[in-house]
Amino acid sequence: MTFVRVCPLRDIPADGALAVEIDDTPVALVRTGTEVFALNDICSHAEVSLAEGEVYDYTIECWLHGSCFDLRTGKPTNPPATQPVPTYRVKIEGDDVYVSLAQES
Ligand code: FES
Repeated sequence: MTFVRVCPLRDIPADGALAVEIDDTPVALVRTGTEVFALNDICSHAEVSLAEGEVYDYTIECWLHGSCFDLRTGKPTNPPATQPVPTYRVKIEGDDVYVSLAQES
């Protein structure tokens, strides 16, 4: 599994998200507490950026129609979205965030 360095940890807002591109794949890096998660940045409902949504309770809420996606699984927890978004592995070394695009879900 190949991890690529994406950014320093400090670039991701606390309890917020940062949109990045990794090998042409849009990825939302989401920080909650001391943990960082990576999801595909495109909402499975109508293709807007999830990174612009709010982060709470291990979810990120799509700003357009309000579906929340579980940061750990990518699955929507409420409608209108019904399909999960892909999630990716994250590791943190020192102050650097690494992501592997090998899909988790
Ligand atoms: S575009 Fe995300 S819930 Fe509709």
